[in-house]
Amino acid sequence: MMRTGNAGTLRGEDAGAAVMLAGWVAARRDHGGVVFFDLRDGSGIVQVVADPEVVGEAVHRIGREWVLRIEGSVRARPDGTVNPELPTGEVEVAAAALEVLNESEPPPFPLTERGDDVDEVLRLRHRYLDLRRPSMQANLRVRAAVNQALRRSMSEQDFVEVETPMLIASTPEGARDFVVPSRLSPGEFYALPQSPQLFKQLLMVGGLERYFQIARCLRDEDLRADRQFEFMQYDAEMSFADAEDVMAVVGEAVGAAIEAVTGARPGPVSRMTWHEAMERFGSDKPDVRFGMELVDLGEVFAQTGFRAFQAPAVKGICVPGEGEASRSTVDALVERAKSLGAAGLVWMRVREVEGTPVLESPVVKFLSEAEQTALIAALGAAPGDLVLIVAGERRVANHVLGVLRLDLGRPPVNEGGLQLLWVVDFPLFEAIAPDGRPVPAHHPFTMPHPDDLAMLDEGGDLLAVRSQAYDLVCNGWELGSGSVRIHAPALQQRIFALLGIGAEEAQARFGFLLDAFRFGAPPHAGFAFGIDRLVALLAGEENIREVIAFPKTQSGADPLTGAPGPIDPGQLAELGLAIRARGTPPRR
Ligand code: AMO
Repeated sequence: MMRTGNAGTLRGEDAGAAVMLAGWVAARRDHGGVVFFDLRDGSGIVQVVADPEVVGEAVHRIGREWVLRIEGSVRARPDGTVNPELPTGEVEVAAAALEVLNESEPPPFPLTERGDDVDEVLRLRHRYLDLRRPSMQANLRVRAAVNQALRRSMSEQDFVEVETPMLIASTPEGARDFVVPSRLSPGEFYALPQSPQLFKQLLMVGGLERYFQIARCLRDEDLRADRQFEFMQYDAEMSFADAEDVMAVVGEAVGAAIEAVTGARPGPVSRMTWHEAMERFGSDKPDVRFGMELVDLGEVFAQTGFRAFQAPAVKGICVPGEGEASRSTVDALVERAKSLGAAGLVWMRVREVEGTPVLESPVVKFLSEAEQTALIAALGAAPGDLVLIVAGERRVANHVLGVLRLDLGRPPVNEGGLQLLWVVDFPLFEAIAPDGRPVPAHHPFTMPHPDDLAMLDEGGDLLAVRSQAYDLVCNGWELGSGSVRIHAPALQQRIFALLGIGAEEAQARFGFLLDAFRFGAPPHAGFAFGIDRLVALLAGEENIREVIAFPKTQSGADPLTGAPGPIDPGQLAELGLAIRARGTPPRR
């Protein structure tokens, strides 16, 4: 037997027990007499006291990250040496025997609680060491608990777990595909799935009715704090179901996952329409943990003589307590607003004069007394606050103020609990491209809102068409999205036509799905959310890399394995591929 238990679980009541432990040397203190070790295993750390006269003089050689096995007895720490910071801080283990199971080179960086101050490439290059840090250990355990709870919940809700293939034809999520060359068909390629979208719809045609999967997805897109090339989706699809059915299932599964980690089941997920989210928060993934909401000032300035405010929309936010921000800070906000597309940003300090709030700003002289009073009232502004106003196109004003609101008010990720929100009634199209074609807000299989079908006709207001699509948002992050799907070939053709996807192109890209739909496709709807994002929020991490065992760097590299790297000429030849030097034209 290697060990009797775990280092991190020993407590005061274990005093007197004989134990065998095994683990790594997290820290050592050697003052020439007895040697103190912090012995770390998967459960935590305990202090070990090793007397060279008992365990041998070689104990002085032992360094950090050596692997030890210790036999000894647990004893209460002497008065004054109890460490309240450590769960095992009341006790220590007096070693009677010590065996070196393996030696270690000194680690290239300290394996302390958090790795924030260590160069990330160094951390990822030695991820096997980085993973020994308590926060990484804890994060991966959160991840495992989430996966397990999702599986349990979905199986209790009568969903069938089905794996879908990795080597496929292109999927419609709109990102760039990763492709894999085919050896048996030189010059041809598989795409790696951006999601199981098309296969889960085929499963519905196949009569599965309730499918789920914890699916690996791959998208070749620019990496950010919440984006990796490879990520995991909780993916689900249901037949004979509408948006409400899907939201209920997903809400239950997410609730179970949160409960598995926090011990408490969140209340019902609140709801907001996309339109309301854009108007109040300037974002389709509003962070509702704090106020500073966007206020429509259209009525306040309806009759204004101030040219800058004679615009389709005038909107403002009130930033509490920032009224004394320096001129350079305010100038930086103006620049930020311009870089986001605003023509300008009007700022006003709120000061107190004779007990009432008054506005101070270079533009105040252009506003009437009544406008100033109404503005203060509309924004609920108080002395000490800073008022920011954007006038212009409604979309632009909302977007710019939405970003400024986050810049100035967003709490750290681990504050304010998890505020889950369904954003519903997304528009079907997010914009009209310069060629006059609408740009889909989700994938092209999304069902329009039944009340808005008429607007798809010639001359209809396409941007006003709502879809039956819904997003799950948490603390300003888009956790996931889903929709009711189009199952009727005629409506699908119509949407493709609007998007400029001709019959031939549709057949070439999604022909297999359209073919399947000719054989009695049931009405169906589904959803997927990013497990990495949910786990990061639960672990209080700002970057999903912290909850992935072996992630890529921001530039898409894996410093541990050296990927991506060249392949040998024999492999290339077998695949019928040739690498041309940069800047040379392709060979025909
Ligand atoms: P969507 O493309 O919105 O929908 O993806 C769903 C969720 O997956 C997560 N996600 C990512 N996580 C980490 N890194 C990435 N690069 C990345 N890209 C996406 C996000 C996102 O909300 N098939 C549809 C779902 C459906 O309609 O059923 C889909 O994939 O959390």
